[in-house]
Amino acid sequence: MRAYRIAIIGCRGRGTAAARAYHQHPRTEVVAVCDLLAPPRQQLGDELGVAARFADVDAMLAAVAPDVAVVATGTEFHFDLARRCLEGGAHVDVEKPICTELVEADALLALANQRGRRIAVHHQGRVGASMRAVKGALAAGRIGSLRYLHGSGKGYHGGYGLMNIGTHTVNNMLAVGGSCRALSASCLSDGHPVGPADAIEAAGGMGLVAGEHITAVLEFAAGVTGVLVEHRFPRVDSTAYQLEVLGTEGRLLWRLGQAWWLPVPHYVPDGPAWQPLPLEPLAGYVAGTADEADYAYTDDLVRALDSGGDPECSGAAGTHVLEVLHGIFAAGASGQRVSLPQPERTHPLRRWRAAQGLPPAPVVPRGYAEWLAAEDRRLGRGGA
Ligand SMILES: NC(=O)c1ccc[n+]([C@@H]2O[C@H](COP(=O)([O-])OP(=O)(O)OC[C@H]3O[C@@H](n4cnc5c(N)ncnc54)[C@H](O)[C@@H]3O)[C@@H](O)[C@H]2O)c1
Repeated sequence: MRAYRIAIIGCRGRGTAAARAYHQHPRTEVVAVCDLLAPPRQQLGDELGVAARFADVDAMLAAVAPDVAVVATGTEFHFDLARRCLEGGAHVDVEKPICTELVEADALLALANQRGRRIAVHHQGRVGASMRAVKGALAAGRIGSLRYLHGSGKGYHGGYGLMNIGTHTVNNMLAVGGSCRALSASCLSDGHPVGPADAIEAAGGMGLVAGEHITAVLEFAAGVTGVLVEHRFPRVDSTAYQLEVLGTEGRLLWRLGQAWWLPVPHYVPDGPAWQPLPLEPLAGYVAGTADEADYAYTDDLVRALDSGGDPECSGAAGTHVLEVLHGIFAAGASGQRVSLPQPERTHPLRRWRAAQGLPPAPVVPRGYAEWLAAEDRRLGRGGA
């Protein structure tokens, strides 16, 4: 069986995590690394023993012609880089969220379709051991029939958290509930429903967002609803990042690297306790530098490329996640229930600002802490 040749674009945290999984998987080989900056490029090239190192994506595509190009840069660069990789003939593995705009995601899907290439969006949690345990327990009937879902983020600013962490949570909810047909949402800043001036550019190049506290109700194809909570906490708390799946006879809980089962539908203090579900690493995975979920995601992509089909975390699935995220902003802005997929594909918050005669949202700091401090000042809290 042939090995797929992989090129990594963006060699810091996420590019390194992806590269380690591609390096470990027996059917993939990292053949080139690319970063604008020399230190991360050299560090990753040295770690994996990859000699082909580039600062320019097009030069890398021309010299190496990889089977798969991994776009692991800041989110605002995903569209342009993924487009160039597809035009250069590669399949694309792009970090989440797929893009900052639905028009961009649509254009990537159309281009991939035209060129006969595949897009995978790096929502590795959906195929990792803990989600596999949750999906397996659900399929085995351990909670009876599905009743509803409840997902929550890490306590980042709600709008930023939605684009950053919510993208994984929504994707995991879609894996259980099926596609999202409609949604409604409350987006509050400083305790009040957001106004158009609260539609701001997010930290980390995640595009326009609105609301410190976001609560959304999602309606799934399976006929159940789910609540997604992305509320700003005084401090980020990663333990709050979880998805609960509630059924007629029990509950399942997904957490990062963990899965739990409660054998009764409602928790009662003197009732049965939550039990850990055993996590089974994917066959062939060896604990080491690569994360199991990244490895499972790689394995799923390899199978898709072998069969000519789509991976579970496909470009279409990643685009649907972005439809949900932007649908939540549209619902929060309008106070109306939003049906998906939305026919209007431009950013709902940009349209909202423009309709109210506001100029484009100002440029903001890229780092989260600095950005949050600037947002607090905009809201009239602390300092000048
Ligand atoms: N899947 C996950 O669990 C997960 C977790 C965190 C972040 N992310 C996503 O991963 C992405 C990247 O995150 P990160 O923290 O690694 O980013 P980062 O900003 O730390 O690193 C990105 C690297 O890309 C390089 N780069 C930027 N433009 C480039 C270009 N045109 N050509 C070559 N290199 C270029 C930069 O020089 C930098 O070294 C973001 O989209 C983020 O949302 C995903």
